[in-house]
Formats: sequence, C-alpha cells, structure tokens
Amino acid sequence: MDSLPKVISEYAPRARGLLPPDVATYFLGGAGAQTTQSRNRSDLDAIAIRPRVLKDLRGGHTRLSLLGRQYAHPILAAPMAYQTLLHPEGEAATAAGVAAQDGGMVLSAQAATPLRDVRAVSPACGWFQLYWHVTRDGTLALAKRAADAGFEALILTVDAPVNGVRDGEISENFKLPPHVRAVNLDGLPQPRFAPLDESDSAIFDRLSHVLPTWDDVEWLCQNAPLPVILKGILTPEDARLALESGAQGIIVSNHGGRVLDGAVSAISALPSIVDVVQQTVPVLMDSGVRRGVDVFRALALGADAVLVGQPIACGLAVAGAQGVSHVLRLLRDELEIIMALAGCKTLDEITPDRVVIPAPFSPY
Ligand code: FNR
Ligand code: LAC
Repeated sequence: MDSLPKVISEYAPRARGLLPPDVATYFLGGAGAQTTQSRNRSDLDAIAIRPRVLKDLRGGHTRLSLLGRQYAHPILAAPMAYQTLLHPEGEAATAAGVAAQDGGMVLSAQAATPLRDVRAVSPACGWFQLYWHVTRDGTLALAKRAADAGFEALILTVDAPVNGVRDGEISENFKLPPHVRAVNLDGLPQPRFAPLDESDSAIFDRLSHVLPTWDDVEWLCQNAPLPVILKGILTPEDARLALESGAQGIIVSNHGGRVLDGAVSAISALPSIVDVVQQTVPVLMDSGVRRGVDVFRALALGADAVLVGQPIACGLAVAGAQGVSHVLRLLRDELEIIMALAGCKTLDEITPDRVVIPAPFSPY
C-alpha cells in the first residue's frame, strides 16, 4: 500500500483517485449546486479564534462523557450509508478505526453490514441511526433490532425523511451493485402507494402519508427501548419541540449539505439551539467539520461533540480501518494543538469568549 497521506487535506483527493467516479460523487459530491456545503465551510472559516497565552496546560486532555459513555475525544463518526462501496470491510472497518482512537460511531440505517457484526468489532459503534420507517410498528421494529444488537441510543434523522422510504436507488444516476444493500432493513414494511392521478403531487398526495410528524417523534421517544436523539435540527423552534417531545439529545446538522441545498449552515444554527437547550441534553453538531480548528469552533459555540462524515469516508476508502483511525488521529492532534495555542486544557475550557463570531450569524 502507498504510505498514508501526511495531512488530512490530502485524504479527499487520494480517495477520489481510488474510487469509481459515481461512488466518489455519491460520497464526496459532484459539480452540482452546493450552496449549503460551501456555506458550512465559509461560516466555519469565518469564526476567528481569540487565543489566550501562558495558561498552565498540565494535566490537559480531550476526554468527555456522553449519555453515560466515556470517549477520549469529541469527534464521532457520522452515520453514512453503504460503506462497503468504499472498502470491502465497510462499516466494520470504520468501527475498528474509531475504536483504535477510543471514539464513538453512529451506524447508518442503510449500513451494508449487519448490526451485530459491527457491534462485534467494538462497542465504539454505540449509536444506531434510523429514519422513520413507514409506520410506528415498522419504526419500532427497527429500533428493537438495534436494542437487541446492543446499541445504546437511537439517532432519528429528521431532515431527510424521504430516505426512509427509498429502496435500492441512491441517486438518479447511481444504482447500487447487487451485493451492496441495506441488510438491516430486511423484512420491515415497505410503503404501498395507490397509483397517482396526473394532477396529484408525488410529495403531498403520496409520500406525505408515510412521513413522520412531531406526534410520531413523541410517541417514539415514549415507546422506544433506547434514548432517542434527533439529527437534522437547524432552528431553535424545532429544538424546543424536540425537547418537549422527549428527545435525549440533538444533532445540529444539515446532512453535510446533501438534502436541502440553500439551508443555513449547521455552525450558524448552533448558538441559538444551544441557548434553547440550556445543557438539559447533549447538543452535537456536524456538517463541514474538516480540521481540528473546526472542532474547536463548534465546541466554543456550545456543542458537546461533533460528527464527521466525508473525512471518515475518505479515510476508509484510502486505507480501511487504518485510514479511519489515521484521519481521527490527525483531527485529534490538530484539536490538541489548537487547544494548547488558545489556552484551553480541557473541553470545558473551550468557551464562547475564545472565538469571535461574525456579525451575520446573529439574525439566524
Ligand atoms: C451521509 N449522511 C447520513 N446521515 C444519516 O443520518 N443517515 C445516513 O444514512 C447518511 N448517509 C450519508 C452518506 C454519505 C455518503 C454522506 C457523506 C453523508 C449525513 C452524515 O451523517 C452527516 O450528517 C454529514 O456527512 C456531515 O457532514 P460532513 O462531515 O460530511 O461535511
Ligand atoms: C444520504 C442518505 C442515505 O445522505 O442519508 O445519502
């Protein structure tokens, strides 16, 4: 194998060079409209650090605890579908790479590897992501599968509900090869739709009947065998509804800019959500985190931890578990350096006064 990239920014071009073009486009994006993806980056870059010097850093660390589990650092692997497209060992390799860094991972509902096989690699993969699965019974059946396999929390993704009812086809131009499928959804109900009249809307007259609402979320929080965290919240209004519905955590995310192009950046949405939550439940953030300094920025704005998607995909594509572990190690090292340069010896010391937020953030 070629030697591993030296810096994190070399991973994406290396991964693109290794992957079939359609797989690279699915995981890393193509040339299309990417307003939100670039906004995620530009809003992160706009946050400047206010370093404090000459602090005593002895005994510093990046440890934290979330929902009762300890992690060595606050950088979790985001749920991403069909990881065997990137590497033959897929999600199992990601879990091994995450475990090597004492981190955390969320397994996608559309994982191509059985739940139990991923759990068997390491309890580092502790959270299972799901979409609303057509009906309350369907969703609960999936939640129970995760609980039976030993998962500790459910991440209900609410910003792309249509994904829960898609089958097999992941984009207009890209059909999954036959050996790659969402194996953990086998046997769950599939929606049955009446034929559409020409005047009907595919969304409002058809899909809307199987999409969840806040009542369903409240029901799931009451009936699920595990705590439910909502992923894909971008407004304080929805953060309040999430808390009222019984959510045990919130992930501020725009799905890496993959769903609603034009949406606000996740980082800009974070402060007003943190303000509503008032530390009653953990708040995590993802979408656009690429460097240790971005982790610092998100934590300064009140996130307890971040998730990373594309960087993990690139690590997996380039060198399997070793690549995932190396990407996380690079991010951890960068975070430690930024903490030291900014005068923070623990994550708790990464407070809002360590950054300057640009003016356009406040009106969000
Ligand atoms: C995702 N994401 C995602 N989210 C989710 O809840 N369930 C899923 O199955 C997937 N699948 C998926 C596939 C691919 C290829 C990507 C890149 C992303 C979104 C993911 O969890 C996360 O929100 C974003 O990836 C975060 O943005 P960055 O770190 O990729 O910029
Ligand atoms: C995606 C879906 C699977 O982002 O969440 O591709």
